[in-house]
Amino acid sequence: MTELSVSILSADLADLGAECRRAMACGANMVHYDVMDGHFVPNITYGAPVLKCLNKAVPEMVYDVHLMISEPARYAPDFAAAGADLITFHYEAVPGAVEQTIASIRETGCRVGMSINPDTSPQAVFPYLDKLDLVLVMGVNPGFGGQKFIPATVHRVAEVKAECDRRGLSPYIQVDGGVNAVTGPQCAAAGANLLVMGSAFFGAQDPAALAKTIREL
Ligand code: DX5
Ligand code: ZN
Repeated sequence: MTELSVSILSADLADLGAECRRAMACGANMVHYDVMDGHFVPNITYGAPVLKCLNKAVPEMVYDVHLMISEPARYAPDFAAAGADLITFHYEAVPGAVEQTIASIRETGCRVGMSINPDTSPQAVFPYLDKLDLVLVMGVNPGFGGQKFIPATVHRVAEVKAECDRRGLSPYIQVDGGVNAVTGPQCAAAGANLLVMGSAFFGAQDPAALAKTIREL
């Protein structure tokens, strides 16, 4: 069983509530909410006020917040108050402050995820594995939806999965970026159990069938 988190970055942003309900009706387990600050990544998206409205409109959804921002600990409480269930920060954004960042997010009451970029060794997450609810292995360099999946991601997922198994840990292993009907099964076979889909989901002729395929992996 693989869970699906639908990235609304590729949705009709003028109609977010309806797009979230549509994702939910198609079988999405979570909505993936990409926060970009124009500093950690070269793009800007949306912040906590939009999440607050969305959560008010669709309170039954699980909100998987992906912070691609500098100073994630500073802003995590705002996202928690706005309705985040899971908050993922980037390892690369907090040099020397990983433990503190995990603790700060934990304090908000949300589940905690840590993400690594394609150029970061999977071993970077190993010292923190027992403190994380989720490890996000990026399938692309963060910043934009609709990019091509980097094939080496599959081996990186397998490395994280092997270490989790060795230590008897079972966090979510999430893949985000370039996931589609072809790359999704590869990631799941390597051990990913939570897949993010943006452009593939919103561009699909039959998104419900695609969601079903992913959840049955
Ligand atoms: C990339 C974002 C992703 C993105 C995924 O920086 O973190 O969540 O929306 O979009 P697709 O599935 O189109 O690669
Ligand atoms: Zn994301």
